[in-house]
Amino acid sequence: MILTNHYCTMILLVLICLCIRSFSSLAADIISGNQTLSGNQTVVSSGGNFELGFFTPGASSKYYIGIWYKKVRNQTVVWVANRETPILDRNSAELKISDGNLVLLNVSQAMVWSTDLNSTSSNNSSVVAVLRDDGNLVLRDGSGSNSTSVQPLWESFDNPADTWLPGGRLAYDKRTGKKQLLTSWKNTEDPAPGLFSLELDPNGKQYIIRWNRSQQYWTSGAWDGHTFSLVPEMGLNHFYNFTYVDNENESYFTYSVYNPSITSRFVMDVSGQIKQLFWDNTDWNLIWSQPRQQCEVYAYCGAFGSCNQNSLPFCNCLPGFKHKSESDWVLKDYSGGCVREMKLKCENNGTSTSNGREDKFLMQPYTSLPLHSEAVAVGSIGECESSCLRNCSCTAYAYDENGCTLWNGELLKLQQLAQGYGNGRTIYIRLPASSSVFSGGKNNKGVVIGASFGSAVAVLAILAIVMAVMWRCRRKCVGSSNGLEGSLVAFGYKDLQNATKNFSDKLGGGGFGSIFRGTLPDSTGIAVKKLESISQGEKQFRTEVSTIGTIQHVNLVRLRGFCSEGNKKLLVYDYMENGSLDSHLFQANESKVLEWKTRYEIGLGIARGLSYLHEKCRDCIIHCDIKPENILLDAEFCPKVADFGLAKLVGRDFSRVLTTMRGTRGYLAPEWISGLAITAKADVYSYGMVLFELVSGRRNSEISEVGKVKYFPSLAARVMVDGGDMLDLLDPVLHSNADVEEVLKICKVACWCIQDDENVRPPMGQAVQILEGLMDVSMPSIPRSLQVFVESQEHINLFTDSSSASQSLQTKSNNSSTSSHSNFKTATSPTD
Ligand SMILES: *[C@@H]1O[C@H](CO)[C@@H](O)[C@H](O)[C@H]1NC(C)=O
Ligand SMILES: *[C@@H]1O[C@H](CO)[C@@H](O)[C@H](O)[C@H]1NC(C)=O
Ligand SMILES: *[C@@H]1O[C@H](CO)[C@@H](O)[C@H](O)[C@H]1NC(C)=O
Ligand SMILES: *[C@@H]1O[C@H](CO)[C@@H](O)[C@H](O)[C@H]1NC(C)=O
Ligand SMILES: *[C@@H]1O[C@H](CO)[C@@H](O)[C@H](O)[C@H]1NC(C)=O
Ligand SMILES: *[C@@H]1O[C@H](CO)[C@@H](O)[C@H](O)[C@H]1NC(C)=O
Ligand SMILES: *[C@@H]1O[C@H](CO)[C@@H](O)[C@H](O)[C@H]1NC(C)=O
Ligand SMILES: *[C@@H]1O[C@H](CO)[C@@H](O)[C@H](O)[C@H]1NC(C)=O
Ligand SMILES: *[C@@H]1O[C@H](CO)[C@@H](O)[C@H](O)[C@H]1NC(C)=O
Ligand SMILES: *[C@@H]1O[C@H](CO)[C@@H](O)[C@H](O)[C@H]1NC(C)=O
Ligand SMILES: *[C@@H]1O[C@H](CO)[C@@H](O)[C@H](O)[C@H]1NC(C)=O
Ligand SMILES: *[C@@H]1O[C@H](CO)[C@@H](O)[C@H](O)[C@H]1NC(C)=O
Repeated sequence: MILTNHYCTMILLVLICLCIRSFSSLAADIISGNQTLSGNQTVVSSGGNFELGFFTPGASSKYYIGIWYKKVRNQTVVWVANRETPILDRNSAELKISDGNLVLLNVSQAMVWSTDLNSTSSNNSSVVAVLRDDGNLVLRDGSGSNSTSVQPLWESFDNPADTWLPGGRLAYDKRTGKKQLLTSWKNTEDPAPGLFSLELDPNGKQYIIRWNRSQQYWTSGAWDGHTFSLVPEMGLNHFYNFTYVDNENESYFTYSVYNPSITSRFVMDVSGQIKQLFWDNTDWNLIWSQPRQQCEVYAYCGAFGSCNQNSLPFCNCLPGFKHKSESDWVLKDYSGGCVREMKLKCENNGTSTSNGREDKFLMQPYTSLPLHSEAVAVGSIGECESSCLRNCSCTAYAYDENGCTLWNGELLKLQQLAQGYGNGRTIYIRLPASSSVFSGGKNNKGVVIGASFGSAVAVLAILAIVMAVMWRCRRKCVGSSNGLEGSLVAFGYKDLQNATKNFSDKLGGGGFGSIFRGTLPDSTGIAVKKLESISQGEKQFRTEVSTIGTIQHVNLVRLRGFCSEGNKKLLVYDYMENGSLDSHLFQANESKVLEWKTRYEIGLGIARGLSYLHEKCRDCIIHCDIKPENILLDAEFCPKVADFGLAKLVGRDFSRVLTTMRGTRGYLAPEWISGLAITAKADVYSYGMVLFELVSGRRNSEISEVGKVKYFPSLAARVMVDGGDMLDLLDPVLHSNADVEEVLKICKVACWCIQDDENVRPPMGQAVQILEGLMDVSMPSIPRSLQVFVESQEHINLFTDSSSASQSLQTKSNNSSTSSHSNFKTATSPTD
């Protein structure tokens, strides 16, 4: 009885298998000599990770042969066979083995794609195609039963599309000089090779990204055995393991994920950025992307497009221009750029629309200038403009302290900067006089500089003054700033004495001197800082001060002027109505509670200010003393970072700075204390500490209960990793009134920022992107330096052994997405 039953079940199973075979899947993971794949049939890898078959990208109606993740809900294609030759009807198309190749035939039995092997070595009816569980489609001789050891004849890993999977490689073949490219899709609905490609530069042991297979716009920096010099987050990572292989035939990188249960991919995105992502069972999460800023991608917005890092979409047409292809723009393919709405006078042969009027120029301030310019030696803006007008192919000019610059033909890689970014320049775009941008209304921002001689003279006069000021204030940081930003007022000591009522209203004292409230004769509020222990000479002092004066950003306190009389050195800043952050945060005052939304905005604002200091200046400015006392709040509670640039004033001897900052140990990165070189990541550490304080409303360094250390950062990290209630961590005065997702996000960022290894801390720009919601953040690991505090709690020490750590974390996590995060963070510690 039992036997018969068993037998029946067997037959049933075989029948089911046969059914599945003939209607949806072929024999598991293999296409062999006799089989064809067609219609909705697919092949699934042995472990069920990947699936191969026909797919249509997005709303497209075209079919492609592709490989995608079987377990990922949103179909995510990692490889495409017929990238450039889609099929219109999948039911009459066939993927099969033919003459030792895997080929795709369309309805008329014409070959639209093939593995293109020379048949002499593989002309064998026993050749099979196998989809492996790592996503590699392999063509090999399938005659023997013991076939896993057979050398593949062809692999999809050697012919990647836009995705580089773990175990895959991107190689340089020394014998043929051939490079494997990772090439972006043309757009989100067309897998045809796009403009952006990643390749190995074997000489530099580095990866580079090129535009249109030629123009290089990004490099990873050289591999030093552990990490890429310019992208430490790519190599040195808790998450995956990059290895460089170099033998007589080829050189390549390969990578593996420490925890094989994590689904991760590396993609050359249609945005022109390379991205590393992982799947958390709901969505793809970005681990990092390079180049970090979208606008750094070469010609991303195409000809006459303007890229703006602070707006979505990033690309817009310059005024007077329109999208070249509306449908491409909809698909986020901006590479076609923009075309003129109306022709120039010279293009029109002086007839029609312009009524014979000379072309005009539209002023575009705060611009990062386009590529491929030509310098012209003329002495005035008027002459510069006429040089441009004389040549019909001239499309724009700029005139500033660098002289006259002209552009011919297409304007590529023009970037619109936020007002106040120091390195913005002004460019004049040539447009027909009848263009609507000149008739007012449509574009109020642009200012027309007419071709008339009279106005040119006036402009010249103003420019001369501006340039005189600029030349005096030009410095290495923000060297090419636009004019007036460099103008600082040199105050007399007497004036400041009067303004501050003889320094009677003290606002506070900092590492570099006391600060006093004052009022200028025009009743503007100012804050005057009396600097102590200035070691520099007069000339050097003025140099540094004017450098600081050129640094302007909405989240940085503005320096209005200075005073330098003998050893009396003072700095004059804008007065901030709401004082410093510490007074709001740590001094319990129920009536003036900083709401959570405000705190979040403050955290974001500080990050923006610091990101500006670190990344937007030509010389990175390290603040060195980030703490709530140095975050000032204006009338609207917009945060402004104060005291930047002062570390330089007291000299480059940082040990000296350290001694002047006795009171701020709680914010100092470990490398300060160990005497290592200081980088911008020291500020990142201090910033992380301030973020924790925004959440808790008390100082991290405060010891709340005698004998029992409750160090807030480690408490927060613990609750976060265990998936506890983040609102428990919140400042009690907020009565749990906060967005729990935001609290979690801030705590994650904070914890990443205070990692012991500065290479693991995110750059400030990344913190900004995370807080703005443009980038996801994974669960950080608890920094080792916090473990002393953790150990005193009831929990076991999770971080002595990586494998047991990930186990214990997994069992503690109560939802699957945290568990994959935990894996990611504790998989191993970076090797050094
Ligand atoms: C192909 O299928 C035919 C019958 O359908 C069979 O006779 C033949 O042996 C098969 N060949 C291979 C290589 O499987
Ligand atoms: C596959 O296609 C066949 C015939 O075209 C159809 O009967 C079947 O329902 C399809 N299966 C799925 C899962 O769509
Ligand atoms: C994946 O699908 C979910 C729901 O179906 C959707 O919310 C999410 O945006 C999708 N993600 C991507 C990357 O398409
Ligand atoms: C099949 O492919 C061939 C070669 O690419 C092409 O000439 C032909 O038009 C295609 N047939 C169909 C129906 O698409
Ligand atoms: C294929 O073989 C022929 C002759 O053996 C040779 O000339 C040709 O270069 C080979 N092609 C490839 C792609 O290897
Ligand atoms: C390969 O196979 C085809 C047909 O199966 C045959 O015509 C051809 O001669 C073979 N070539 C070689 C080199 O064996
Ligand atoms: C062709 O297949 C036979 C077995 O069917 C095998 O013995 C032989 O080595 C194969 N030849 C090549 C060149 O792969
Ligand atoms: C397959 O071949 C390898 C050597 O190439 C041998 O060690 C292994 O035992 C074989 N496996 C089977 C199942 O025959
Ligand atoms: C890319 O380069 C090719 C020549 O190598 C050129 O024909 C093509 O126009 C270029 N594409 C773009 C978008 O400029
Ligand atoms: C990284 O991968 C390489 C080769 O795949 C391996 O030899 C090495 O042990 C791995 N490193 C770690 C830390 O797992
Ligand atoms: C390099 O190629 C030769 C010939 O194809 C092969 O014999 C050798 O094993 C290869 N070396 C390595 C390290 O793969
Ligand atoms: C411009 O005018 C010249 C002579 O007046 C003529 O030869 C030429 O064809 C015209 N070009 C256009 C684009 O109208």
